[in-house]
Amino acid sequence: MTSPDLPAELKAALDGKLRGFSRSDAAGRAATISKTYRGGGNSGAIRTEADALAYALARMPATYAAVTASLNALAEIRPDFAPKNLLDVGAGPGTATWAAAEAFSSLQDFALVDANDALRSLALGLVTDSFRLRHIDYERGEARSLLANADAADLVMASYMIGEISEAEQWALAEAMWAKTNDTLVVEPGTPAGYARIIALREHLIGRGAHVAAPCPHDGRCPLEPPDWCHFSQRLQRSRAHMQVKSAEVPFEDERFSYVALTRAPVEERRFSRVLAQPDIGKVEISAKLCTPDGLSLAKIPRRAKADYASARRWRWGDAVERLNLSRPTSD
Ligand SMILES: C[S@@+](CC[C@H](N)C(=O)[O-])C[C@H]1O[C@@H](n2cnc3c(N)ncnc32)[C@H](O)[C@@H]1O
Repeated sequence: MTSPDLPAELKAALDGKLRGFSRSDAAGRAATISKTYRGGGNSGAIRTEADALAYALARMPATYAAVTASLNALAEIRPDFAPKNLLDVGAGPGTATWAAAEAFSSLQDFALVDANDALRSLALGLVTDSFRLRHIDYERGEARSLLANADAADLVMASYMIGEISEAEQWALAEAMWAKTNDTLVVEPGTPAGYARIIALREHLIGRGAHVAAPCPHDGRCPLEPPDWCHFSQRLQRSRAHMQVKSAEVPFEDERFSYVALTRAPVEERRFSRVLAQPDIGKVEISAKLCTPDGLSLAKIPRRAKADYASARRWRWGDAVERLNLSRPTSD
């Protein structure tokens, strides 16, 4: 399992970039960018080197943590997956590329595409001293047209990106990404809207022959009914610079995210269930909301079932856990 915290090399590169920049100016820029996002805007608000750095300081730790958690989940389900090359679509400051490089030591070539000049320059500046990311090739331009000429890659990723494009374009982009690979990972914010994008894209690509590797233990329709939605949470540590730029008081944050990892080959045996919320550990029993291969289940694990209870005590939100067969699914 890869750590959700930024690798030391990336932290040092960000700190190096911050030298000579005012932290309060960076905090002001980060606040403006985040207000733009909350108001439904996109990364078009990031125009200068200072904006790009402010964005990266404020958001890279959390997006890195979410992508890492998703990659860890994928690697757990497919332990033999050893991609050699990566295509990072809407790569921005290179967050998903850094996360994938840490998660898969097999990766050697990294192709990135993005329309934003300031973020691309920052990404290239951050890898200058990196031996690991020395084979990075970063093209600037509109994702779908660049994808048409891109080389196929073992892993294609888009992190916190598809929310920036229109619905019709999201499907076209998903198809273009899928056409370039056997394995695709898409990560979005853990909001109802982020989940809705993930689930629509999931269904669309299943219709084109994809199979779900994670988080779902099945390729069927999502059993959650609105207003419920599937999302996960990853805790990450905040550095001093991160706290200053976010005007934060606690040294950690919890990033909520939704994701889907799709693969061309059917996932063989599905012996796991996905934990959909932090289990409730009571004196008499543990209650856990699970997505199982047969549907949604609110599992109750009584203390008297000693071995199962001991296993369930270790369950965390987002884990893939062994099926205990304790309760019947509540829906299919
Ligand atoms: C919120 S940022 C996320 C960046 C990066 N993936 C990360 O996780 O940190 C969204 C990125 O998508 C890029 N983007 C949005 N629409 C795009 C398009 N049509 N073509 C290329 N890049 C696009 C933006 O320029 C921006 O860098």
